[in-house]
Amino acid sequence: MKIAIVGAGYVGLVTGVCLADFGHEVTCIDTDQRKIDALEKGVIPIYEPGLSELVKANVSGGRLSFSTDLKAVVPGSEVVFIAVGTPSRRGDGHADLSYVHAVAREVAAAVDGFTVVVTKSTVPVGTGDEVARIIAATNPAADVAVVSNPEFLREGAAIDDFKRPDRIVLGIEDERARSVMTEVYRPLYLNQAPLMFTGRRTAELIKYAANAFLAMKITFINEIADLCEATGADVQQVARGIGLDNRIGAKFLHAGPGYGGSCFPKDTLALVKIGQDYDSPMRLVETTVAINDQRKRAMSRKVIAACGGDVRGKTIGVLGLTFKPNTDDMREAPSIDIIQGLIDRGAHVVAYDPQGMVPARELIDKKVDFADSAYEVAVDADALVLVTEWNEFRSLDLDRLKRSMKTAVLVDLRNVYRHDEVAKHGFEYSSVGRPDGGIAESVANAAE
Ligand code: UDX
Repeated sequence: MKIAIVGAGYVGLVTGVCLADFGHEVTCIDTDQRKIDALEKGVIPIYEPGLSELVKANVSGGRLSFSTDLKAVVPGSEVVFIAVGTPSRRGDGHADLSYVHAVAREVAAAVDGFTVVVTKSTVPVGTGDEVARIIAATNPAADVAVVSNPEFLREGAAIDDFKRPDRIVLGIEDERARSVMTEVYRPLYLNQAPLMFTGRRTAELIKYAANAFLAMKITFINEIADLCEATGADVQQVARGIGLDNRIGAKFLHAGPGYGGSCFPKDTLALVKIGQDYDSPMRLVETTVAINDQRKRAMSRKVIAACGGDVRGKTIGVLGLTFKPNTDDMREAPSIDIIQGLIDRGAHVVAYDPQGMVPARELIDKKVDFADSAYEVAVDADALVLVTEWNEFRSLDLDRLKRSMKTAVLVDLRNVYRHDEVAKHGFEYSSVGRPDGGIAESVANAAE
């Protein structure tokens, strides 16, 4: 099938390359000429494991190409995916749909023959209706079916998520789109991934409900972690104890410094706004947003407490800046608030991240110094704070760290280590929701 993807950002690129890998003929379109030139040379604008190799393989296989010329690509395409950004609108938190609407107008003017236009970007309920209205108004002769097909890709695992999805949600209003979309996802259907056909508004809401539910789940376990600290219970065991109940499930119950990233913060906020607009308030989600916002800053107070209540003039080493490992994405990362909280209290912060230091320079306080490794961060540090659980921080040489630190304090905000193993090396250790620093329980059990 001939497929056009409008928007060569994270979602568009992953979708495009995976569909090309299924055997479709895909063109990714973007207005950014530099990005397209770079992609044509095999330079990928984002860090996502496996993406670069898959792009190269599909470009050389002749199934994937790039273009800035929407007018030229759309007429020959049976399916056009809209995968442009829907950032939070400045000031009010509503999703900004101006890019989606602009693409709808351009696509409307260019389509030729029956075309399925798919919104892949996360969009508020009713956006598909609006896209259909815009297309009909721009080009009354256009024969188009508008479909909602939300993505559920996790950064760092996006290709795997695309190729092994739990489900594919397809919101359709025009029956002709059903067979076209079945054909698009045929390889996955053959692998038994359920294709779920719903109405368009339902599909749009499924995406927000899924992200809000996951954000709530994380926030719930984070509050339980606080209660564990107050009562002497162990959050990892609580998570395992509840997660083994199939109705709850073990995933997304890993306590930490609060969720960040490009999706949960934006989508929870957007769902709150949708609820308010429809006079159907999303009170649980509103509370989740508030708890998570406060939690990030609260983590700096946890660090300060671990340093004896005062960090003025002290050097705090931060390990990990991105909102989670295996990405260079710094959006809404807890590290931003934690570092600010420490600097506001007079600390000198030195940070290291395997992939995120370039974007971090734009987003975190300019007073932060950067180091080239965890060991360099530790030099003369009064405390180390593990903020993002990159693999390279999971088996650090604790003796080596301790030798170069001023005082051996480790605050582990991802529960990567255990108290007994860290204390053996002479560290003072604190973690999240494990007052005794955790017993022999593997992180993987709780986190996955
Ligand atoms: C998420 C959704 O998982 C995905 O389906 C959606 O399409 C986009 O948003 P992503 O933002 O890439 O994906 O990251 P995810 O792995 O879901 O983590 C989000 C945040 O929650 C991170 O900051 C992570 O550290 C945090 N988190 C996750 C926890 O604190 N505890 C957990 O148990 C899981």
